[in-house]
Amino acid sequence: MYLTREEERMFDGYYGEAVSLAIRVIVKVGEALGAERLIRVKHVHVSGASYSTVGEAGRRFIVDLAGKGAKFRVYTTVNPVGMDTEDPNAIPYAIITREYIRGQNDIINAFKAMGADLILTCTPYYTYIPDKLGLSVGDHVAWGESSAVVYGNSVMGVRTNREGGPLALMAGITGRTYYYGMHIDSFRIPTIRYVARRKPLDEAEAGILGELIATIHDDEKPPLIEAVFTSDPALRELSAALGAAGSIAMAYIPGVTPEKPPQGRLESIELDEELKRVVEERAPNETPDIVFVGCPHASMSDLEMLKLEMKKYSGRPKSKILVSTSRHVYLEALSKGLVGELESMGVSFIRDSCLIVSPFARRGVKPVVATNSFKAYFYLRKRGVPVYIAGIPRLVRASYGG
Ligand code: F3S
Repeated sequence: MYLTREEERMFDGYYGEAVSLAIRVIVKVGEALGAERLIRVKHVHVSGASYSTVGEAGRRFIVDLAGKGAKFRVYTTVNPVGMDTEDPNAIPYAIITREYIRGQNDIINAFKAMGADLILTCTPYYTYIPDKLGLSVGDHVAWGESSAVVYGNSVMGVRTNREGGPLALMAGITGRTYYYGMHIDSFRIPTIRYVARRKPLDEAEAGILGELIATIHDDEKPPLIEAVFTSDPALRELSAALGAAGSIAMAYIPGVTPEKPPQGRLESIELDEELKRVVEERAPNETPDIVFVGCPHASMSDLEMLKLEMKKYSGRPKSKILVSTSRHVYLEALSKGLVGELESMGVSFIRDSCLIVSPFARRGVKPVVATNSFKAYFYLRKRGVPVYIAGIPRLVRASYGG
């Protein structure tokens, strides 16, 4: 692989052990894929920050790296962790012991020592980050959170591969990644068209469509998705589902993806019928113990929508309504009085974390959950939790026993 003089110096240990180790890993992976060079990235978003996800081995690895003096050479932000850092008891059905808090804090402190911005969210695009870094179409970044990768490539037009947790870390330490895949124009041209045009899709339907596509799309190049999405949260849920149910890093969505449309006719697959069937099959038919919104982390518009729907009912919901969001969105909603309004209607907030990356229902009782997120549906089911999926209006109706 061709390396610049600066990259050679990194490789040879001129900048210390951690940088040398990091660039060697990136070069090795890049060479295995056939990349001819590295590329500078403007932003790195590291996943694998939750103690529940990375475990003791991951904690030791991250703490060791920080101990070796590793520092991020490029602006690096961090995914959610295993608990709300200000209120470890915010997540019900989760056993958070003192050892757990210690292990999680070790990881957080190691990232801090390396110079990370601890935004602790999977939706960096809903924070100040895009403005602060001036992220725009065509910028190269290295993101480790699969839902953000698909959203970034497909909606924002930035360029990133799905970097595994350690690879994103290495990209932060070197400011480089291998020039391959989604960084290259030719890899971003769709090959197959998936069509679901019967009606505009809400966030739950968009997620299920993402799942259907991810399970049949068997190509390194992106799918083209011809559908109408009702909102930005629907695009976010589509992205999260494409990332969770398969290995897709990008979708081309006409009218959304800021790149030139593909030329010529593509093979076309109709999904309307299948989508309708699966959506109906998974809708709530009992009052859930928990309604969960905010996977990926909720935006202001999700909170507004939730408030609007809850205002249609009187009294308190029968289900516990949980919203996970970034501290950034939470503080914005707090300053606008939205947090207070929602809390007064029976909503609880989880910041910095979510049900999936926390110890929620990993042991003991499995409450019935209803969510608007396919990704949450997918991972909670794997954990043995009974789950339903529907858009916010239907979830709220179910929470009031309707
Ligand atoms: Fe984010 Fe947790 Fe879902 S990290 S994408 S809210 S699984």
